[in-house]
Amino acid sequence: MKTNIRIVPGPMALAHAAAAEVQRIARHSIDQRGAFRIALAGGSTPRALYGWLANTDVESKLDFARWHVFFGDERCVPKDHADSNYRMANEALLSKVPIPSAQVHRVRTEDGDPVAVAAAYESEIRRSFALVKGDLPRFDLVLLGMGSDGHTASLFPGTRALAEVEKLAVANHVEKLGAFRITLTIPVINAAGQVMFLVAGADKADVLARVIEGDHPIARYPARAVRPVDGELTWMIDDAAAAALSTRRRAGFGLPRA
Ligand code: 6PG
Repeated sequence: MKTNIRIVPGPMALAHAAAAEVQRIARHSIDQRGAFRIALAGGSTPRALYGWLANTDVESKLDFARWHVFFGDERCVPKDHADSNYRMANEALLSKVPIPSAQVHRVRTEDGDPVAVAAAYESEIRRSFALVKGDLPRFDLVLLGMGSDGHTASLFPGTRALAEVEKLAVANHVEKLGAFRITLTIPVINAAGQVMFLVAGADKADVLARVIEGDHPIARYPARAVRPVDGELTWMIDDAAAAALSTRRRAGFGLPRA
């Protein structure tokens, strides 16, 4: 696994740098395979990135007609709910670019209980990637955020989904939220060609240092489980979130001592 760390000055610079990376990966995937399969992150950090992508000028040659969009996780709410990851992505990006609707694979949270919704999402992934039993989908890019508790996607500390190695997507009950979340599983994330974390803000700094530089258990810091088996991991971090990283690592980006 190749790991890249990029530290940029602030959340807007993070969105801009991440957009350039997504564009590069998308063009490469389309050149090589005629399609770009991406799993979008939820939460708030990616919104600015999606906005940059939506405002992509023609010169960037982003062939959105070749994009296939999935979601790394989803809350169990209607697609127009304020908490919906689909709604955020649709407002910021999907409603503004010409991705064929059949190529937007949202988690259909309206279609039953969380377990049934997760099973249907898994079937959609298997169908779209034309997987045979036992195969894992190889996303060209999985975008992830990281919570201040070290969770990623909807893989929260101490939850059952962390142990899932057979299913592609599961309904994960998160006690501290008092709710189920639908999430891709660790094997699926780690089967991707590229995984990119977007982490911004001082409230993430201490946990980020433990995730990147510590040797803590995955059960406590699930983001540490993200280790692409045959792919690249990139941490796109703003300077506030990087504040607790080692001096050596920060020095590499010309940042002052922590
Ligand atoms: C979600 C996300 C989740 C998110 C982190 C960070 O559905 O909430 O998938 O994993 O990426 O909680 O969220 P922020 O970007 O809002 O800090």
